[in-house]
Amino acid sequence: MSDTYQHVKWFRDSSPYINAHRGKTFVVYLSGDAIADENFTNIVGDIVLLNSLGVRLVLVYGAKPQIDSHLEIQNMTSVITNGIRITTPEILPSIQQVLGKVRSDLEAALSRGVVNAPEHSSDITVTSGNYIKAKPLGIIEGRDFHNTGTVRKVNTDSICKQLDNGAIVLVAPIGYSPSGEVFNISSAEVAGEVATAIHADKFILFIRESGVVDADGKVINELQVNDIDPQSLQPYEPLACARKSCIKGVERSHLISYSNDGALLEELFTRDGAGTQISRFSYEQIRTATADDVAGIIELIQPLEADGIMVKRSRELIESEIVQFTVIARDGMIVSCAALYPFGKQGELACLATHPDYRDNNRGELLLTHVEKTAKELTLDSIFVLTTQTAHWFTERGFVEADVSGLPGSRQSLYNYQRNSKLFIKSLA
Ligand SMILES: CC(C)(COP(=O)(O)OP(=O)(O)OC[C@H]1O[C@@H](n2cnc3c(N)ncnc32)[C@H](O)[C@@H]1OP(=O)(O)O)[C@@H](O)C(=O)NCCC(=O)NCCS
Repeated sequence: MSDTYQHVKWFRDSSPYINAHRGKTFVVYLSGDAIADENFTNIVGDIVLLNSLGVRLVLVYGAKPQIDSHLEIQNMTSVITNGIRITTPEILPSIQQVLGKVRSDLEAALSRGVVNAPEHSSDITVTSGNYIKAKPLGIIEGRDFHNTGTVRKVNTDSICKQLDNGAIVLVAPIGYSPSGEVFNISSAEVAGEVATAIHADKFILFIRESGVVDADGKVINELQVNDIDPQSLQPYEPLACARKSCIKGVERSHLISYSNDGALLEELFTRDGAGTQISRFSYEQIRTATADDVAGIIELIQPLEADGIMVKRSRELIESEIVQFTVIARDGMIVSCAALYPFGKQGELACLATHPDYRDNNRGELLLTHVEKTAKELTLDSIFVLTTQTAHWFTERGFVEADVSGLPGSRQSLYNYQRNSKLFIKSLA
């Protein structure tokens, strides 16, 4: 494949993601280590690119190594306990000074923006302000944390107004009490609280590692909040903040490496991503169906069969094919389902449905991702779907229309010409 064609193919493959992300709100956590990394210029360029693609962006920054070295130069010391710095009144001015400098550097970097496209970045408005109301962390186990605080409230109205005006919002890990006191707050905590408060579509955290890794050191592409043991985490470490914000309603969190050039774009614009994606549904369960789910599946799909959106399936058929089904169960109710039937190296995605009360919350997408994962585990090359009314949903997710002759032979003989469904195929290669 020539370089040019590869480029064209990549661009085509990313178009569903470009459309999906436009108008969405992402909170991006930039730790002080990320800012200090030599790859940071590329990260800024990619952030500006997201802005140009219509993504609403809130950037929350930290400055731990920058504060450490500033204090060292000043011959000052500070104590960090359980990952939290004790902010005495003596070191607070230094912290404020460093955070101000980092903010100004970030504003400069964002104004410089994308290499080769300076005209866009010159139009970018970056705003910052008193977005965080804080309260003192207080005295923990006899230790006074002085001006180290915790988030009391996020000024969501101000942030959202700035986003509506097309600005990139920069949030410092600093908050103010109603009495005018200043508090230094964990930057990861601020990022998580902001993502939760503004109902971000994505919370992206840049970390040292490539993502969450398994026992063999391999990056885990996807986790659900239920998979993460909170006991094993420090309160303000990125994974803990990502988990917490997902539980509180953020659709997806992503942990990606700050030293891996292009990780942000790979995570957002390719199917497998670059790091670890964490999704919620803590009170919902996505799992293989069992015989107990037959009644729930029938209840879900019967109205769609009656409207002719789906082919009618008898109870007996569903019972006999129940293991092919994946369901999302919420408090015992089946709110979404999908089935996968392998035909040689191809798999048919069928019976994809979400209860009308639960639509538009990414459950369909979650099921599709799950089915694709299963298909890959079965070493299938592609999945296909036959549909009469949902073509766009599938094409927006990477399916391409094909002639019915593209169906596997054994499936072609079952094709209902009267129904005249269209065929869409998605390659898993
Ligand atoms: C298609 C369906 C499964 C999506 O379920 P879901 O849980 O709402 O899925 P998601 O939340 O991931 O996707 C919702 C998005 O798809 C869009 N969508 C829904 N139906 C669509 C359709 N027929 N064509 C194009 N887009 C559609 C929604 O407007 C929403 O878009 P937005 O987020 O940009 O606002 C659900 O609408 C459904 O059950 N439809 C009836 C059954 C059906 O058509 N099944 C597929 C044929 S086998």
